[in-house]
Amino acid sequence: MSGGRFISFEGIDGAGKSSHIEALAAWVRGRGHEVLVTREPGGTPLAERLRELVLHAPMDALTEALLVFAARRDHLAQLIEPALARGVTVLCDRFTDATFAYQGGGRGFDLAVLAQLETWVQQGRNPDMTIWFDLPAATAAQRRAAVRAPDRFEAQDQAFFERVIAGYQARCTAEPQRFARIAAAEERTVVWAQIEAEVQRRAWW
Ligand code: TYD
Repeated sequence: MSGGRFISFEGIDGAGKSSHIEALAAWVRGRGHEVLVTREPGGTPLAERLRELVLHAPMDALTEALLVFAARRDHLAQLIEPALARGVTVLCDRFTDATFAYQGGGRGFDLAVLAQLETWVQQGRNPDMTIWFDLPAATAAQRRAAVRAPDRFEAQDQAFFERVIAGYQARCTAEPQRFARIAAAEERTVVWAQIEAEVQRRAWW
């Protein structure tokens, strides 16, 4: 294989993706490959500073979109592209599908503008696989209620998250080969079994 694989993890807040990212990282490392786990917005010092703003400072949807794509630009150039070039597997907690789902679906922001930014910033770089943790907005809200204080997105109502889910669904429908849709309301071991099956099916490692 020339170049590493790039896998993103997506889903609404409370979908439970974080622990499974670490599990997949261990799984790939167990097969003798180097793995980089990173996240968006974030992943570099500059992008982490932008993340703080996006998650906590009031702003309109265009500003939000510009900041997440600015963070993504730095993240790709400084971290993701060099890692992939070295043959490292990159596991990224959220990527551009989150922008289409949250800014596009959730906030109702212009998808054509997001598509233009996607083209400029990514220059053809897209995840090889996107693991989408799909579960009802009400289930995710119950899970979130048990944990820490909400950020600007986690504080949104259920209708917002219904629109985010619809945004993910539209991306999944447009690119079914890239997406692995996981029934994330199942118990943890069942969720992991689905992920493992989807990864094995691709026969990369
Ligand atoms: P998240 O990835 O859920 O991290 P944590 O587990 O620490 O809460 O939080 C990131 C938030 O940023 C999430 O609510 C979705 C939002 N987001 C966007 O709105 N647009 C984007 O492009 C990205 C990458 C994230």
